[in-house]
Amino acid sequence: MKVIGLASDHAGYPLKEQVKEWLTSMGYEYKDFGTNSTDSCNYPEFGHALAQAVESGECPVGIAICGTGNGINMSVNHHKGIRGALCWMPEIAALARQHNDANILVMPGRFISEAAAKECVETFLATEFEGGRHQARIDAIPC
Ligand code: RB5
Repeated sequence: MKVIGLASDHAGYPLKEQVKEWLTSMGYEYKDFGTNSTDSCNYPEFGHALAQAVESGECPVGIAICGTGNGINMSVNHHKGIRGALCWMPEIAALARQHNDANILVMPGRFISEAAAKECVETFLATEFEGGRHQARIDAIPC
C-alpha cells in the first residue's frame, strides 16, 4: 500500500486534516510531517521534511498545503527529485501527473473548496504519467 506523505503550515492544517479522512476512506496510509495545529508556523520546515521523504523514497508521493500553496510549493521544489504542482482543479491535477510526473500535489488551503480539493486528491492519486515527449522535458528541469 502506498504511504502518502503530508505537510502543511497553519493555514493548510484544516484541509490537511480533511485530506487524512479522504485518504483513509480511499484505502491509503499516510505519514504526516506536520504542522499539527493552527498555531502560526513557517511552511518551509514542513515542506522540506515532506520533500526529503519523497526524495528518499520513503513516500512515493506527497500532498502539501499552505494558504496560497505558493510558499510550500517553492519550498518542496528546491529539492532536485521533487516536482511539486500547485493545483486548484482536478483537470490541473490530472495534467500535473500526465505531463509533469508531479510527485507532490500542492493545494491552496485558503482558496480551494473542499469539493475541489477532494477531486484534486482523487485525480492526482489515480492518474499515471504519460511518458513519451514529456520525459525529456522533465529530465531537463533540474539545473
Ligand atoms: C500564511 O499566512 C501564508 O503566508 C502561507 O500559508 C502561504 O500562503 C504562503 O505562501
